[in-house]
This record gives sequence, C-alpha cells and structure tokens, in this order.
Amino acid sequence: MARLLFFIFLSAVITTEAQQGESVVNLGSFLTPTTNSSWLSRSGLYAFGFYQQANGYAIGVFLAGIPEKTVVWTANRDKAPALASVTLNFTSDGRLIMQSAQAEETAIASPPERAASASMLDSGNFVLYNSDKKIIWQSFESPTNTLLQGQRLTAGKELFSSVSESDQSIGIFRLKMQTDGNLVQYPVQTTDTAEYSYWSSFTDGKGSNVSLCLDDDGHLYLLNSTGTILKNLTQGGYPTKDVVYFMRIDADGIFRLYSHNLDKNGNFSVISRSTDDKCAPKGLCGLNGFCIMNDQDANCLCLPGFASVNPGNWTSGCVRNFTAESCNSKDESTKYIMQAVPSTVWEDNSFSSLTLLTKEDCEAACLKDCNCEAATYRDRVCQKQRLPLRFGRRELSDVNIAFIKVAGSTSTINKIEPLGRERYSRKDIMILGISLGAFGLIMSVISAIAIYKNRVRAYRRLSNSGNVDLSMDVSLRSFTYSDLEKMTNGFKEELGRGSFGTVYKGTIWNGQKIVAVKRLEKLLTEGEREFQMEMKVIGRTHHKNLVRLLGYCHDGENRLLVYEYMSNGSLADILFKPEEKLCWDERIEIARNIAKGILYLHEECESQIIHCDIKPQNILMDEYRCPKISDFGLAKLLKPDQTNTFTGIRGTKGYVAPEWHRNQPVTVKADVYSFGIVLLELICCRKSVDWSFPEEEAILEEWAYSCFEARELDKLVSGKDVDKRQLERIFKVGLWCILDEPSLRPSMKKVLLMLEGTVDVPIPPSPTSFLSTV
Ligand SMILES: *[C@@H]1O[C@H](CO)[C@@H](O)[C@H](O)[C@H]1NC(C)=O
Ligand SMILES: *[C@@H]1O[C@H](CO)[C@@H](O)[C@H](O)[C@H]1NC(C)=O
Ligand SMILES: *[C@@H]1O[C@H](CO)[C@@H](O)[C@H](O)[C@H]1NC(C)=O
Ligand SMILES: *[C@@H]1O[C@H](CO)[C@@H](O)[C@H](O)[C@H]1NC(C)=O
Ligand SMILES: *[C@@H]1O[C@H](CO)[C@@H](O)[C@H](O)[C@H]1NC(C)=O
Ligand SMILES: *[C@@H]1O[C@H](CO)[C@@H](O)[C@H](O)[C@H]1NC(C)=O
Ligand SMILES: *[C@@H]1O[C@H](CO)[C@@H](O)[C@H](O)[C@H]1NC(C)=O
Ligand SMILES: *[C@@H]1O[C@H](CO)[C@@H](O)[C@H](O)[C@H]1NC(C)=O
Repeated sequence: MARLLFFIFLSAVITTEAQQGESVVNLGSFLTPTTNSSWLSRSGLYAFGFYQQANGYAIGVFLAGIPEKTVVWTANRDKAPALASVTLNFTSDGRLIMQSAQAEETAIASPPERAASASMLDSGNFVLYNSDKKIIWQSFESPTNTLLQGQRLTAGKELFSSVSESDQSIGIFRLKMQTDGNLVQYPVQTTDTAEYSYWSSFTDGKGSNVSLCLDDDGHLYLLNSTGTILKNLTQGGYPTKDVVYFMRIDADGIFRLYSHNLDKNGNFSVISRSTDDKCAPKGLCGLNGFCIMNDQDANCLCLPGFASVNPGNWTSGCVRNFTAESCNSKDESTKYIMQAVPSTVWEDNSFSSLTLLTKEDCEAACLKDCNCEAATYRDRVCQKQRLPLRFGRRELSDVNIAFIKVAGSTSTINKIEPLGRERYSRKDIMILGISLGAFGLIMSVISAIAIYKNRVRAYRRLSNSGNVDLSMDVSLRSFTYSDLEKMTNGFKEELGRGSFGTVYKGTIWNGQKIVAVKRLEKLLTEGEREFQMEMKVIGRTHHKNLVRLLGYCHDGENRLLVYEYMSNGSLADILFKPEEKLCWDERIEIARNIAKGILYLHEECESQIIHCDIKPQNILMDEYRCPKISDFGLAKLLKPDQTNTFTGIRGTKGYVAPEWHRNQPVTVKADVYSFGIVLLELICCRKSVDWSFPEEEAILEEWAYSCFEARELDKLVSGKDVDKRQLERIFKVGLWCILDEPSLRPSMKKVLLMLEGTVDVPIPPSPTSFLSTV
C-alpha cells in the first residue's frame, strides 16, 4: 500500500510538472530496466515499462508498483527475459523498440505507420498516436491473458493463459470469442470444436460479431454488434470508487473476474469464476495422466504402470515405467494384465469398438490384441485404445471403466485391483465426487450430441436455463419440464408408483439410454434452494448398490428426478412372485449388497443420509440382478407431517421402526430396523405381513422369533439349497436388527461384518414388546 501511495504521489508530482496531467510520451524517450523503468498513466494507476520476470526483464503494462501480481499485458510474451542492459526506445523516427547492448532490435508494437507520440492511459491501455493524434496501435487490441475495464474481446480474438503467475509466457489454455457468438474455453493447440471445449457461454449462433465486454462496475457480458446484451456473465453493480476490476484466464485454465481495492491494502478478490471445478480444464494433467480433486484442489495422477515425465510439472504427462515389447501378434495374456481405473474418462482415441456383455470380456479382448494398450468399457461398448490417452479426469458419476495394460505375471491375471479403492480412501473419493460431478453441465454438453440433435441447440438450450452466474456449481444435469416431456413421450409409459410419486419411462441420448423419470408429489412446494441442495447431495453419492441420479428438474411447480433405469424391476417383484424363485446364495448376496448400500449412505458418503424407507419396493434390480437402493435422500424433502405415512400396511409395523410411532428421534437405526425386516423377508421369501397365512404366522417378525426360540427355523425356510449354519447366523442378524430399542440394534457396519461371518453373532435378546405395540 505504501508503495502504491508512493506511486500515486509520485505521479501527482509528475503530472503537475507535466502540465494538465499529460502523460504523453514523446519521441526520443527511453526506459531502462533499472532507472526510469516505466511510464505512468495520468493518475499513476497503470505503468508501461519493464518489470522483472525470472532472472531478467520483460516489457508490459501493470498496476504501478505491484507488477508481481498485476501484469495485464506483455509484449512478445514468449521471448526470453531481457538482460538488465537493454533499453526501450521510442525512437525519433517513431518506432517503439527494445534494444540490446549489442544493438539488436525487437519491435514492441507494430503499428501500420510511424508513431508521433504514445501514452499510457488510465484505463490500462497503452496507445500509440500518429501525428494527427489518431490511435494507430493499442495494447487493448492485442490482449494477452487479461481483459480490463472498458476493454473488449472482439469476435475472432482470444486470450491465452500464462504459464504461471510469475511467468507470462503462453500457457496451455485459451478463451476464444468465436465468430459464431460463442465464448469458449479450450486447451491450446486444438481446433475450435465442441469436443475440446471445457467451458462455453452457450451463445452459439447469436450473431457473428459478438464481443466480451467488461464495464467499470464489474459487469462482464456479451454484446452483439447492434448493442444488445446477449448474456450477462456477472450482473455488475459493484462499487466503482477506488476499485479496479479485471478478468484474467489464469494458468489453471479457469477465467476469473478479480477486484482490486486500491484502498484496502491492495487486496485482490475473486468475484466470479468460470467454474469451481479445477479438473475441468482439459489437458491440465498432460498425456496419460488424469485429474482428481483433492479437497478443493486439482491433482494429477498417472495411469497405473506409468510414471510422471517430470514430477512437479503436470503438463509434462506420464510415460510407461516398463518397456513394452513391440507388437508381435502373439496372445499377450501371459505377459500383461489389465488394471482397472474406474469412473475416469478420457478423450476417445479408439481404433476398434466392440459390443461386449461384460467388462471381463472387454479386458480379455484388449489383452489378446497386442495393438490394444488400454480399453474403456461403458454400457456394453468396449473401445480399444492406443496411447497416449489425454484429457483424463476422474468423473465419479460416470460408469466408464478403463483398463490399462500393464506388465504382470501369470499368477495375477484376471485379478483386477480397483485403483480407486486401493489408493485413495473412500472418503477421498467422495470429496472428489463433490466437484467432479460439478462440471456436469459442460460434460453434458460434450455428450449433448446424444441428447439433442445438434450442438447448436444444446448450447442454446442450456443457456436458457438461466444460469446467470459464472460459477456453474451444478453437479447434475438440470432438465426443463419440456425436455422431460419429450424424453418420456408426454409421460406416456408409467413404470410404477411409490411413496414419492409416479415413475415414468423415458430415454435420453437419442433414445439410446433408458431412464426412469420420477415425478415427485407431496413435496415441500417452496424451498427451491433446499431442493437443489438435496439434489446435489444425492448427485454426489456413488455406489454400486445405489440407483444413480442423473438429473433433476425444478421448473415452476414441477419437481422431477431422472434416474438410471433398472430393467429387472424391484426386489419385491422378484422376491414375492412364486415363479421367480431366487436361490439361497443369490438371496444372501442380495442381502449383503443392500447392506453395503445402506452402510454407504450411513457412514461413507459425504453427508450422512438416513433412507427412512427401506423396503423391497425401493430396492431395484439391475440387469444382472444386482440390487440398487432407490429413493434415498428424499425423506428430507417430504413435508414433516407426511414422514409418518410411509407404512402402507395399517395396523402392522411393516418396515417402519417403532420409534416413528413414538415420536422419538429417528436415527440411522431406523434403517437398520427396516433392513432387518427385509432380511427376514429375503430368508423366508415372503412378505413381512401376509394375512393369507394362519394368524400366528401372518406377521413375519413375530412368527420368526417364535420359530427361532423353538429352534424350528425349517418351518420358515424351505428349499434344499439352504445352508443351515448360515441360515441360523443370518437369522440372528435379522433379529438383532429388529429390536425395539434403537440403541441395541447393531450399526450397518456391524451388520455387514456379521452377515459376512467375520464376527460372531450373539443370541439376540427377546423382543418382548412385539405384542404390545402392534
Ligand atoms: C527519466 O526520464 C525523464 C524523461 O523521460 C527525464 O527527465 C529524467 O531525467 C529521467 N531520470 C533519470 C534518472 O534518468
Ligand atoms: C536508444 O536509447 C539509448 C539510450 O539513450 C541510445 O544509446 C540508443 O542510441 C537509442 N537507440 C536508438 C535506435 O534510438
Ligand atoms: C442483436 O440481438 C438482438 C436481440 O437478440 C437482435 O434483435 C439483433 O438482430 C442482434 N443484432 C445482430 C447484428 O445480430
Ligand atoms: C463489430 O461490431 C463493432 C461494434 O460492436 C463494430 O465496431 C465493428 O466494426 C464490427 N465488426 C464487423 C466486422 O462488423
Ligand atoms: C444484464 O444485466 C443488466 C444489468 O446489469 C440488465 O439490465 C440486463 O437486462 C441483463 N441482460 C440479460 C440478458 O440478462
Ligand atoms: C483481503 O481479502 C481477504 C479475502 O477476501 C479478506 O479476508 C481480508 O479482510 C481483506 N483484507 C483487507 C485489508 O481488506
Ligand atoms: C511401475 O509403477 C507401478 C505403480 O504404478 C509400480 O508398482 C511398479 O513397481 C513400477 N515399475 C517399475 C519398473 O518402476
Ligand atoms: C512442463 O512440461 C511441458 C511439456 O513437457 C513444458 O513445455 C513446460 O515448459 C514445462 N513447464 C515447466 C514449468 O517446466
């Protein structure tokens, strides 16, 4: 601050001396890096001249006194820093050049004609005039990485990020104002096509001469040539007194609007940014690497079997840490194994695409093909890839699995180590998930081709969703109501009705992927924020035993959720239909998987989720009959007076824990209770309440306990394939879960350990209250 004040003071002196504050630079003036190193603007705010870079000097525009943080323009960014012996001459014949001690000249600006004078303007624009006082060159028209107040990025122009805050040479990201009206971020050295973009203003097709403008009050917007604002990136209206605003595409690929308070210790703060997802900028991690989020920061990892070329320099990428033998068309399955990298996406670089039923088939296909160095598997499509893989990032909401061919011994063939689980704790993964999903909007644009017929429409559509702020903190796709109407063909095919509303069948990706669209009823009508918050929490969950939420709609009064579609209906459909007999092992496996899903909700996801409505109707079965819990996280959205109405069956306990009826606080143990009921149902293959049985057998939990006490479990369970010892153990687990007193019920973690036989199951106490509370 002292320095800044000094400069302001200094400039005041200079300007008075120079009469009427002229900051005109006359022909014959010169600057050197050490003395008289810059020309100040009239108020002394901006300076043009030498600033220190690495071990030398560069020439540019910066806030006087604090070039370390505020270089807004640099001449010849990619030239090596100059020595201290150079001079900057505004020659008597009107050229602006840098001259070395050996009299080598480098042009700083190349106006079409000879200049007569120059000026550092208070806006931060350095201009050259001809003898008629007409501007013939200005730094505002050759921007580097920054846009200042009053400056425009006109159609066709782009900003390039710097290598780092202290090195202004051209980095690896760009922001382009396209001639189609779209403002787009890309990595460098790519074509201007949607597949490479990682951020867009979605103003495609809105005019051929659109500019990005920044006003004095921090208003950042896109303007068409007839003066219509096409899109506000910020709303503006920020204080203008003693504050400077500038927008910069930073070295990390994110562009940010900064404010700099001249009053308060020269503080810089970020007002808005293009994304919160630091892994979004494509290419951050170089070839064969991928980006993961560590807390709030991006981090790069190499593919398994790869090592960083230059540790510490992410862009340098990764190379194999073993020598791959050349392709000799022999089956390579003895030399290599495939290592899985789940939920990670790369640019598709495949040379062959196969439709295969399982991921194991996909692995095998790649192992057999010596040209195949990696494979990705998603939705039964196996794509064989050649290296390098680029633009990698973990995308937890993605079902993609990549397999990387690595050196291995025969003994470990077929053993896939899930890298994600092994190397990072689940908690890490969830933290990652928070922001990884977050770029969903952009990523969905990339996959938008599938959803909308063409790119142009997709851009428009998303821009219409009213996302005004730059920071697109969206972890899920947000659909409009009419999108969903279209996807479901006017809500034509009903899949079912549940406690939260009706479910319809729909398709996305041009009909290629079937989804389930749930129209929520009985929800809090207000509380859009809460709704979105809950959606985000649900969107961040990721577990193989949970149904994945793909998107949602909060359009007017409508609240809908879009889920992945489960082709085998619910557990209730399978379990209670006599023709569908599940074998014992399958039932136990299903029980374990449900327990894993609930355990995840209770203990492993970022914020604890109590399901409140575990029952076979809410456990859906995927195509491989793997159970997935649905409707989790919704209980919070229900109106308070409706939380008690889940139990469809009157006069019985159903699946609802007794504390619900007693107005006691409901904890995760309520889910343990419901799980216990479902477990008994799974063991016995019948509904928990079924009046077609004799009266003493109608309520399963009571009948079960009396059979257990009488040591007559075979009365409950029929089937030759039942393992008797296992039966007793699992039965006891079920009885522990349905104890009346919540604190006596085991945690889900304990339940899982008991189910798996890792810990012993004690004899459960008698549930004395059975008869009294019915
Ligand atoms: C700095 O430059 C100004 C004019 O450009 C000149 O009057 C002054 O003497 C110079 N100061 C030094 C220390 O060279
Ligand atoms: C540039 O300025 C230096 C220092 O005054 C001078 O020695 C040199 O001759 C100038 N060069 C030109 C081309 O004017
Ligand atoms: C600018 O936008 C307005 C409103 O969308 C439109 O009417 C006008 O034609 C546009 N101008 C150009 C040159 O495209
Ligand atoms: C684009 O629009 C600006 C005004 O916004 C105008 O000055 C410029 O000449 C236009 N360029 C073209 C090529 O039409
Ligand atoms: C953009 O913001 C300005 C005020 O900052 C407002 O007048 C204008 O209507 C907004 N335009 C759009 C398209 O949102
Ligand atoms: C500088 O900015 C930081 C973060 O925005 C803020 O916490 C701090 O109080 C500011 N300092 C001053 C002197 O305004
Ligand atoms: C290659 O990297 C893997 C880890 O990705 C490591 O286990 C293995 O030992 C490394 N091999 C060599 C030869 O360094
Ligand atoms: C990082 O690596 C890239 C590619 O190898 C290289 O171009 C760049 O200069 C390196 N950056 C640093 C700071 O060393």
